[in-house]
Amino acid sequence: MLDEIKVLQKEVDAFTPKNKKELEVFRIKFLAKKGIINNLFDVFKTIPKENKKELGLAINNLKKEAQAKIVDFKTSAPSLNLSKKEDLSRPIKLNSLGSRHPLSCIKNQILAIFNKIGFVVSEGPEIETDWYNFSALNLPKEHPARDMQDTFFVQTNPDILLRTHTSSVQVRHMEKNTPPIRTVSPGRVYRNEAISSRAHCIFHQIEGLYISERVCFADLKQVLLFFAKEMFGEKTKIRLRPSFFPFTEPSAEVDIYWGLQSVSDHKITKGTGWLEILGCGMVDPTVLENCGIDSKKYSGYAFGMGVERIAMLKYGVKDLRLFYENDLRFLNQF
Ligand code: DAH
Repeated sequence: MLDEIKVLQKEVDAFTPKNKKELEVFRIKFLAKKGIINNLFDVFKTIPKENKKELGLAINNLKKEAQAKIVDFKTSAPSLNLSKKEDLSRPIKLNSLGSRHPLSCIKNQILAIFNKIGFVVSEGPEIETDWYNFSALNLPKEHPARDMQDTFFVQTNPDILLRTHTSSVQVRHMEKNTPPIRTVSPGRVYRNEAISSRAHCIFHQIEGLYISERVCFADLKQVLLFFAKEMFGEKTKIRLRPSFFPFTEPSAEVDIYWGLQSVSDHKITKGTGWLEILGCGMVDPTVLENCGIDSKKYSGYAFGMGVERIAMLKYGVKDLRLFYENDLRFLNQF
């Protein structure tokens, strides 16, 4: 009898009605008063007790599946179950497909701009050692400039930390490659900062590095101007302000001219019309030597920018936290 049920089970599984009539024939065959399943239950009453458990289960399963088939087809195939009220001209409900996160869009845009001028993408780990994040970058232990970046250390081993910037990838890349080097390194970075509309303990950066013979500051300026125009429009103006980073000498911060048209422009540029977008400079010879590159033969520049900052400017987002909350009403706009 079990074999017989197995064959019936296969028939139920394979059944696909073409129309309402076929579905009704199926129902009568299996589930009507004198249908197959009730017949099986009649036979079931007569079999010895010890076989009842297994058989009862099999018949019940068959019944459940036959019933489920009917419900399935009635709900999923409207043509089998049309009521007069249904409007076939209504547009169908589209599945929501999801989309790229705004930070990924901006990151890809930035990488594509640098890719056009020969920069390849490189990546490094988010859990770093002190050497790659600090010491190799001319930030020895106890150097006050370490305070510029509040760091999450691993409690049991102060030599291991969550990287505070993607500059660590510079070091890894220089160690493994020989000049000429042209690379951009995107990634997530961590700092022990209070979360607000302008700061977060997790954010994203893109680091840039160019090492070759006779590289000069004018090369850096030109590349950054190219980037700013590609990113923010052909008319974009930039200015470089002297700054300090331990891994570059000289160092600068780059502003773009944002303008002072609206009240919000005044607010975000603090009344100057200029907005900072990145830090940069000529790679300090000590850093080159730390990475095994001959600083007498080679020179280069580096820059680092925050992806959130560029995304906020491009999309007019006023609160950084929106990027991490995954509110679909926000994400669906991109
Ligand atoms: N690492 C710096 C930061 O996180 C950004 C930076 C500044 C990167 C200057 C550079 C650079 O490569 O040359 O604040």
